[in-house]
Amino acid sequence: MTSSDMNYLTIALPKGKLFAPAARLLAAAGYTADGLSEDSRRLVIANEAHKIRFIITKTADLPTYVEYGAADVGIIGKDVLAEENKNVYELLDLKFGLCRMVVAVPEALRQPKLADYAHMRVATKYPNTAEKFFRDAGIQMEIIKLGGSIELAPIVGLAEMIVDLVETGRTLKENKLVEVAQINQATARFIANRVSFKMKFERINRLTEELRQLAESGSKA
Ligand code: PRP
Repeated sequence: MTSSDMNYLTIALPKGKLFAPAARLLAAAGYTADGLSEDSRRLVIANEAHKIRFIITKTADLPTYVEYGAADVGIIGKDVLAEENKNVYELLDLKFGLCRMVVAVPEALRQPKLADYAHMRVATKYPNTAEKFFRDAGIQMEIIKLGGSIELAPIVGLAEMIVDLVETGRTLKENKLVEVAQINQATARFIANRVSFKMKFERINRLTEELRQLAESGSKA
């Protein structure tokens, strides 16, 4: 960490569904910057007056930026945190962005029991989470990692099943997939780099408390 970095608090925000509510929540706590937008071509956006920097990352990469201290803090879904398993502090459940990680199959392939799917192929963006779920259930599966649009895999025969996030359920429905098991639930979390948490304790602690109050008061993020 350089001395100039010490003057700034660098906040990582993920592209995608959590970006808007995360940026709104931070703005409600007084942390924002001109031009902060998911579509911004600038990936680092600073508020010089308040010594805040925002960086916008690919969702799955955000915990890595925080683990290595490229960002001091960040907001990310528990689903990604669990999958990436990085060495960061999880400071707060922000209670927005609720979604569920599920196992789903095409209606026609539905079986009576989970064990009946043994040895089938499972497409997912979350291979570690999927692998652990099936291992704990004692079911051997072939996991195929994809980067997105997971629902396409069973339609074109790349896999029989998927493990994916469900928010409204619309994507599953439109692709004629049915949920056969829930793995877990996830909400957005506020995380911090371990060294930053010590070196910038006052700033991070103040922000954590501000976010905690907003999350508890159910501020419409
Ligand atoms: C996520 C998830 C599902 C969809 C679920 O994808 O992977 O595809 O949202 O939401 P729903 O239940 O409200 O339909 P995302 O939009 O993040 O993009 P992706 O296809 O690149 O994974």
